[in-house]
Amino acid sequence: MKRVITYGTFDLLHYGHINLLRRAKALGDYLIVALSTDEFNSEQKGKNTYFTYEERKKLLEAIRYVDLVIPEKNWDQKVKDVQEYRVDTFVMGDDWKDKFNFLEDSCEVVYLQRTPEISTTKIKKDLLILKS
Ligand code: CTP
Repeated sequence: MKRVITYGTFDLLHYGHINLLRRAKALGDYLIVALSTDEFNSEQKGKNTYFTYEERKKLLEAIRYVDLVIPEKNWDQKVKDVQEYRVDTFVMGDDWKDKFNFLEDSCEVVYLQRTPEISTTKIKKDLLILKS
């Protein structure tokens, strides 16, 4: 069985996320999503999410491409995760291109093209415009 892992916040789940998850799953048989915790988001990534970790986790678990959701608590857990979950392929959107090449010692590293013109940040901005 080929195991794939990807990382992210996945707040206000949108079709860019779904596209990423679908293509990630197609690279193997079992897709693990390491989901940024609320603490990691606020303290390290500078992101305040609309949905809590538990809410984002439930949404991801309802997606047919996702087999397992684990917490992403810090920047440095990736090598350990790859070993612990016997990951074959690490996947991220190409906004992260070359940032995780150090994992190539442990697994295949793939950067997928981002879906254009959609992001959580854009949704938040557009909602603010609608409100005013
Ligand atoms: N992603 C994607 N296409 C998009 C948006 C996100 O492929 N249009 C991918 C990212 O490259 C990443 C994963 O989805 O691999 C999770 O991204 P995340 O940062 O949670 O989503 P964004 O919408 O980019 O959030 P933000 O605007 O807060 O950065």
